[in-house]
Amino acid sequence: MKTLKKSGTGAAIDRVEGHLKVMGIAKYASEFPVQNKVYAQGINSTIAKGEIISVDTSEAEKLPGVLKVITFKNAEKLKTFEKEMTPISTTTIAPVLQSNKVHYYGEYIGLVVAETFEQAQYAARLVKFKYKEDPNPVINFDKSRSEAYKPNEKSDYALGDIKAGLSDADEIVEVTYNTPIEHHHPMELHAVIASWENGKVMAYASQQIVEDATIAISDTFQIPKKDVRVIAAFVGGGFGSKLNVERHVILAVMAAKMIGKPVQMTVTRPQMFTNTGLRQHNEQKMRVGAKKDGTLTALSHETLSHTSSTLEYQESCGMVTKMLYKVPNNLVTHRLIPMNIQAPFAMRAPGEATGSFALECAMDEMAWKLKMDPIDFRIKNDTQIDLSTNKPFSSRLLVECLRIGAEKFGWKERKIQPRTHKNGNWLIGYGVSGASRQSPYLKTNAKVILELDGDEVNATIQMDATDIGTGSYTIIAQTASEYLRIPVEQINVELGDSNFPATPGSGGSWGAASFCNGARAACEKAIKTLKANQNIKQDEEVSVADLLKKNKLKRFEAEGSAEPSEAFRNHSVFSFGANFCEVWVDKDTGMYRIKRMVNVGAAGKILNPKTAYSQIIGGLTMGVGMAMAEQTRVEPNFGNFITRSFADYHVPVNLDMANIDVVFLPEEDKIANKMGIKGIGELGITSVAASIANAIFNATGKRMRDLPITPEKLIEAKVEPGITV
Ligand code: MOS
Repeated sequence: MKTLKKSGTGAAIDRVEGHLKVMGIAKYASEFPVQNKVYAQGINSTIAKGEIISVDTSEAEKLPGVLKVITFKNAEKLKTFEKEMTPISTTTIAPVLQSNKVHYYGEYIGLVVAETFEQAQYAARLVKFKYKEDPNPVINFDKSRSEAYKPNEKSDYALGDIKAGLSDADEIVEVTYNTPIEHHHPMELHAVIASWENGKVMAYASQQIVEDATIAISDTFQIPKKDVRVIAAFVGGGFGSKLNVERHVILAVMAAKMIGKPVQMTVTRPQMFTNTGLRQHNEQKMRVGAKKDGTLTALSHETLSHTSSTLEYQESCGMVTKMLYKVPNNLVTHRLIPMNIQAPFAMRAPGEATGSFALECAMDEMAWKLKMDPIDFRIKNDTQIDLSTNKPFSSRLLVECLRIGAEKFGWKERKIQPRTHKNGNWLIGYGVSGASRQSPYLKTNAKVILELDGDEVNATIQMDATDIGTGSYTIIAQTASEYLRIPVEQINVELGDSNFPATPGSGGSWGAASFCNGARAACEKAIKTLKANQNIKQDEEVSVADLLKKNKLKRFEAEGSAEPSEAFRNHSVFSFGANFCEVWVDKDTGMYRIKRMVNVGAAGKILNPKTAYSQIIGGLTMGVGMAMAEQTRVEPNFGNFITRSFADYHVPVNLDMANIDVVFLPEEDKIANKMGIKGIGELGITSVAASIANAIFNATGKRMRDLPITPEKLIEAKVEPGITV
């Protein structure tokens, strides 16, 4: 007899696809055994701005195995941007090799295609470019401030009167925070295998949103969308860098067309710095005004960052400041400097991860000024209405997250005065921060195929959703199991093929809510139809096996679709959380360890505590990376990134991580959607860096406002006035 696991939503089952990954059966983009495939290697520019005046491909072309060298001189004609500073989105075209102009160091200026990967790599080094270099590329953020512009009307927001709010205040905090350029660096390199057959494109590509990838490819090549198929069955992380189509995808599709063979292109780890997006440097100026009793009177959040010289991306750092606290006077602005650096795009909770660092540190600074507990200060300014939209929150358990977290963490043991909690050479500090992350829910389609096998039904769910390592396969299987009332072992989930029903893909923490409601809708539709066809009452309980038998069917298919309701649109839907951490700082060296972290989240129904826990651990790790280590440096003379590998772009390893305690508050947000699901992926990184910086202040009396917080910076920083060393 088969022992069945509890398998509906809410059960902590193992990943349904886990064994495929362990056994190497799960295929990532570059692993598909496409017949006759050849290999492409991109060539990167070695100037930040200028023009190519000559190209010499002769030496490369002579090499054995080399099939083609492509530059702007012989590239296929593609659609190009219609206007300057096109806003970048998940469907934006990615023209490449369309002119001799160079816009940033590392831009693709050529491609070599060869029979083997090694031949292509070697030949790429032999292609010679001569440039006419522009002597004044914009590569220095500080020296280019005067170039800043306002991207659009929506980039500014004002409520009340900020000046009045500040003059009303008893205390004012006015400080600036900096976060550096960061790179996504998913474990799986960006990769594609592209081919053409009868005018149609087929691409195995590591993408987060296959539907949008088909749009971007078809638009760039000016062919019908139905003639492009994208497959991303397994994706080894994206963190935003695989939301849109990057130029390697277009290069491979172009090369496949020109050569008439499938072309594989893998972006190398050093190229992941210059060719797959980034998070730009953000300078965030914060002003906080409050009354002596802790009532906020003013909040302002002004962000200066950079974009490329051709594409526009604005990370909405100020978004958190618009909605997190009750404040009558609120100002949020964003300005951009166009620079000769590749275009930034969404990375790991864009807006919230960086914005909450500034806001939640500034709130801590104000609490200290007011001599108030930072938790009490936040609770005092809680709001159940999103003042930026005037809509009530669908549910908001921020206060509960803070209170329960404080209990769990042992917040009452915290010494209020910095530098008073010690252990030998260590200065010990506790920090807290509040977290919020928008929880979108987008229209999602799914298909269910039911097959009768004796007395059992096997079901297949198909949708073009992706699993970027988050657990989509598992939670979709659990949803189908719950709504079809069959064990999860009898459910087969097929994802990541643009031929399957369209979904919004993975991004922005909308995956779980969207995918599962889509799968639910398909299952409900199947059962409803099977009942209706036999005049069975909808509320009568009949197993899906019996329904098929009564319908005399061996096989049955149904498609369903789910989308946001009126109630969703009338509410502001966010997930909430709180981060607590304990740091130990060596008072002589500035080296520090994060000893403990407690994360409390209120993110709707938790579909699978095991995969949800993994999501939060991942987020916390990225938060630690932001706080302690991650930063890409720009070489000041040439504009290239001097951080080009994991030897110099540091990410946290297990030894850097603390003892982690994750708590999910029981919540089902039925306003958000029928299943009560909210987003969780990006909540995990949000405000983590602030809790660490706040703990460092509590330990040392030093305010660390520029990330990453390195031991050198920490040693050099001065303690805040009034704190005894
Ligand atoms: Mo996310 S930065 O929307 O993958």
